[in-house]
Amino acid sequence: MAKPGILGRSSSVPRSNESMRIIFSAVVGVMLGYLFGISFPTVNITKLHFPSSIISYIEDRNSGITTQTLLNHAWTSAASHKNNSVSNPDEIPKIYVPTNPKGAERLPPGIVASETDLYLRRLWGEPSEDLTSQPRYLVTFTVGYSQKANIDAAVKKFSENFTIMLFHYDGRTTEWNEFEWSKRAIHVSVRKQTKWWYAKRFLHPDVVARYDYIFIWDEDLGVEHFNAEAYIKLVRKHGLEISQPGLEPDKGLTWQMTKRRGDQEVHKVTEERPGWCTDPHLPPCAAFVEIMATVFSRDAWRCVWHMIQNDLVHGWGLDFALRKCVEPAHEKIGVVDSQWIVHQVIPSLGNQGKAENGKAPWEGVRARCRKEWGIFQTRLADAEKAYYLDHGITPPNLTGA
Ligand SMILES: *[C@@H]1O[C@H](CO)[C@@H](O)[C@H](O)[C@H]1NC(C)=O
Ligand SMILES: *[C@@H]1O[C@H](CO)[C@@H](O)[C@H](O)[C@H]1NC(C)=O
Ligand SMILES: *[C@@H]1O[C@H](CO)[C@@H](O)[C@H](O)[C@H]1NC(C)=O
Repeated sequence: MAKPGILGRSSSVPRSNESMRIIFSAVVGVMLGYLFGISFPTVNITKLHFPSSIISYIEDRNSGITTQTLLNHAWTSAASHKNNSVSNPDEIPKIYVPTNPKGAERLPPGIVASETDLYLRRLWGEPSEDLTSQPRYLVTFTVGYSQKANIDAAVKKFSENFTIMLFHYDGRTTEWNEFEWSKRAIHVSVRKQTKWWYAKRFLHPDVVARYDYIFIWDEDLGVEHFNAEAYIKLVRKHGLEISQPGLEPDKGLTWQMTKRRGDQEVHKVTEERPGWCTDPHLPPCAAFVEIMATVFSRDAWRCVWHMIQNDLVHGWGLDFALRKCVEPAHEKIGVVDSQWIVHQVIPSLGNQGKAENGKAPWEGVRARCRKEWGIFQTRLADAEKAYYLDHGITPPNLTGA
């Protein structure tokens, strides 16, 4: 009656519906698959909510990772969650490399890039063909725009073998584009900071690891009698790990050591005023250069960078402590006489201070410099004392220097 009819209908109509549905879904599936396939390469994959493993698969598909290894990996990690004590013969062994940089032990050493450089690259083409040159020396100047003529003259004394880096303390950077060299320079702009503040933050030894020598210079240096390539030749020849060019005697001279001598290539020791040196091999008679135009070898800089304190931004006292970083210091620290500079003593960053209590801005800066010097000396002496005590050694009577 009604039932068989219904059954009859339901046994025939649904069947055709079903096959229709199968065909329909097959067509839709194929279309979707096709659309998906053709649209996939142009879709921004980060906007698709895939599991990250798939995204990384897609991003890394040129690196030889296959779906199969991904699946294997997913399977073994799932299996190891279920039963830790089973050692699955197919399991991918864990990577742990104690000699990797701290914190990166889980990476295969072949992928670890622990150092970088300041070389400029292109946005296109073969990465391996990006670099037309790889400078082995770095020079940094801490600058304000008002010193542009001086800096332009100084930069021209550094060949194309130098990476040029400017730290701008006055926030003006685009103005420097009037100089052709500015386009290949690295510009770092942070207002009202000091040379050592920038150096600590932007010249980490692993960042500047490609450079044999690093010049960390002030902006008020006269370079008429200076040539950087010739300077480096002398520094290599005389084994100077930390150095500076001799200073034109009549200007800005605090110490005998940094005074230029006309009759030689370099000098490493000097006479000072009576009573100034407790030991002829110690600062300020030897093992000593100032911090206005310092040049570091890669190894010396790695040590000095670690000694620079984050809060002591003026670097006062650092000159007396540089000797801690090289051994023997009185042979590896010195002044290059035949490539020399003039310290012009132009007040610059000092004027960026703050007028307080009726005192000029530079006075507050100067007071801070002296205070920092004291703090640094105390910290260094305390650190050495702590080390000796930790090691059961009676601390030697260390002089302030
Ligand atoms: C894990 O495997 C071990 C050894 O095959 C077995 O004795 C143990 O019961 C397993 N544990 C679980 C949670 O399956
Ligand atoms: C740059 O370095 C290369 C290799 O050391 C040297 O041959 C070349 O003379 C240097 N350029 C200048 C201008 O000194
Ligand atoms: C170290 O200094 C103290 C006090 O300044 C002095 O009494 C002591 O003799 C000195 N020791 C040495 C080994 O010079």
